Amino acid sequence: MITFPSEFISRLKKAKSVTVLTGAGVSKESGIPTFRDAQSGLWAKYNPEELASPDAFRRNPRLVWDFYKDRRTAAEKAIPNPGHFSLAKMEKLFETFSLITQNVDGLHASAGSSSVIELHGNLHRIKCSGRCGMVGHWVDDGLAAPRCQKCGAFLRVDVVWFGESLPEAELEKAMLASQNCDVFFSIGTSGVVQPAASLGLMARDRGAVFVEINYEPSAISRLADYKIYGQSGTILPQLLQALL
Ligand code: APR
Repeated sequence: MITFPSEFISRLKKAKSVTVLTGAGVSKESGIPTFRDAQSGLWAKYNPEELASPDAFRRNPRLVWDFYKDRRTAAEKAIPNPGHFSLAKMEKLFETFSLITQNVDGLHASAGSSSVIELHGNLHRIKCSGRCGMVGHWVDDGLAAPRCQKCGAFLRVDVVWFGESLPEAELEKAMLASQNCDVFFSIGTSGVVQPAASLGLMARDRGAVFVEINYEPSAISRLADYKIYGQSGTILPQLLQALL
């Protein structure tokens, strides 16, 4: 059983507005490797940065399509874990609750979280790599990387690749939620990728309490007022209990 600092719990209970940023660590207990876990199987010889980039897609659309097809298949088989479900329940305990995620697996929504701010896109959505702006659900005709029916360009997964900018509207919402909260949680993220990694600092600069829940210290631990180390699937249900 985890004993949370009593001052932390009482501050959290008084909070009107809570913002949460999650990373791949929250989905680890659902069987989805974190981004910086070594890739396994067919993808072991690749560094994700070599696959999740516009250049990689230009060089070899089929390889990148297959990489994401495998990740999507894994995400489809994954089920939300107690950490996801606890966050979905937690949103009902506060006047304002914003959930920002770097994850693209869709598990927060599957667990019942409403209006998830998906900073890095969603594996289950595809879009045209050309200019026609088509966005849709995953299709796979089994052929080489499928092409857009509207303009003939290759289809691609609707996630943010290295070197690409984040969806403006999502980033705007994430920044607003981070600048207007009483408590900011950073959960299951190494805190190395910008601009997500700066959201906690934005919150702290506006007087929010900064809480880190992670398996191990991260690049942003030094900013946290409270650091709770361990598995989020274990910690979050107990935190929820402590709030009820
Ligand atoms: N519970 C809590 N934390 C965990 C767990 C767990 N069960 N398992 C792993 N972690 C922690 C790891 O210790 C690590 O600090 O989760 C963090 C995952 O870090 P990364 O693999 O770097 O993933 P993330 O922070 O989400 O990466 C951010 O980088 O590559 C880009 O777009 C990609 O969204 C990704 C972004």
